[in-house]
Amino acid sequence: MRYFIQYPAGTSDLIADALSNFVDDFSVHYRDDSAMVFDSTSSPEQVARIPFAKNAFVVLTTTPRKSIDQSARQFSGILRRQHFPALPGRTPGFRLMAHIDGELSSLDPGARKDLEKAVSASTGRHVEPRGKCEEYWLIGRLDLDELMFCARLPKPARTKKGRGAVSHELSSMLVLASRPGARDVYLDPFAGSGSFVLSRMDLPAREIIYSDTDLESHRENFPDELAQDKRVRLLSEDALTLPSISDGSVDVIVTDPPWGEYEELPLPYEEFTRAVSDSFARVLDPETGRFVLLCARRGAPTYRTSLESAGLAVDATHEILVNGHPATVFVGGRPSATETGGDRDDDHRTAPPQGPLLVGMSTYRRAMSRFSQ
Ligand SMILES: C[S@@+](CC[C@H](N)C(=O)[O-])C[C@H]1O[C@@H](n2cnc3c(N)ncnc32)[C@H](O)[C@@H]1O
Repeated sequence: MRYFIQYPAGTSDLIADALSNFVDDFSVHYRDDSAMVFDSTSSPEQVARIPFAKNAFVVLTTTPRKSIDQSARQFSGILRRQHFPALPGRTPGFRLMAHIDGELSSLDPGARKDLEKAVSASTGRHVEPRGKCEEYWLIGRLDLDELMFCARLPKPARTKKGRGAVSHELSSMLVLASRPGARDVYLDPFAGSGSFVLSRMDLPAREIIYSDTDLESHRENFPDELAQDKRVRLLSEDALTLPSISDGSVDVIVTDPPWGEYEELPLPYEEFTRAVSDSFARVLDPETGRFVLLCARRGAPTYRTSLESAGLAVDATHEILVNGHPATVFVGGRPSATETGGDRDDDHRTAPPQGPLLVGMSTYRRAMSRFSQ
């Protein structure tokens, strides 16, 4: 089946690595900065569960790219002739949407009516302009020479994102990039609303440490599952010293330190990045410690120098946008760890080493399928 997914801008490389281990028999048909069309034998239900997809769709049919109204009329003709596949979702209503080159677009009323009739006839559903219902989207992408007619897949239920929090999709991407292992002691020393911790909680772990100097004000908005998960330890410690965390005791850090753009830092930026990096270097496992660090793109060269001066290696760099702000993601660890990958002696790691991110994804996928059964 053919699928279309949208994801946070700039994470295309991470997604391409990750997807091949998340869905079966995967091949890319089209890809740009924030979306991908791919073929896979996986079911729509499986694709709907991809945690880092902002939206996921089944591509029902395509036409060569013409005007949106011409394409809509062509889709009506195709749908009258073509069998409509059974898809997840049981609501009796549906609505049409058009999303062309990244923006919502409108359809000529005649072309819309015609297409609505064709969808009704094929699915037995009625038009529902408001509220919860199935959505069929006409989608065009700037560099794709066809227009797609797609059915949107239901989104998994998720906890509401707190103010200032990184989105669930990006949080899961960053956690996945850390090659999570079932025996990890995981730390986010600048955990804020807990969005990375929540994503990490979807997976097996030995311990999940949340720390933030402002724990008390964030705690009020914690979802119940964060407060109740026995693996989670809550700390309110300065990330530059972390007095309760002993040397070399952490397997993996995924974090988003203050950017120094919206708040004052306790030290000049360069000194702050050095102190953060030294603190990572102290608490991370001396052989296999890994990290994923999200920072403002402006500050990335300074962070890189500081991380490397602290004896940590940057294995991959991704340029992304966070709420429209240019940001950089560093994926790395101890020089030996970036070659061998995490999860070193986990008994579920049966596959031969495939490259660091893929090992994490297999673990993730196994874990997710266990959770969703
Ligand atoms: C950019 S925010 C992290 C946002 C988080 N990723 C989220 O999605 O909610 C940075 C966080 O670091 C915390 N913070 C700032 N300085 C700190 C320090 N020295 N030690 C620990 N936490 C600190 C702030 O309270 C803030 O919650």
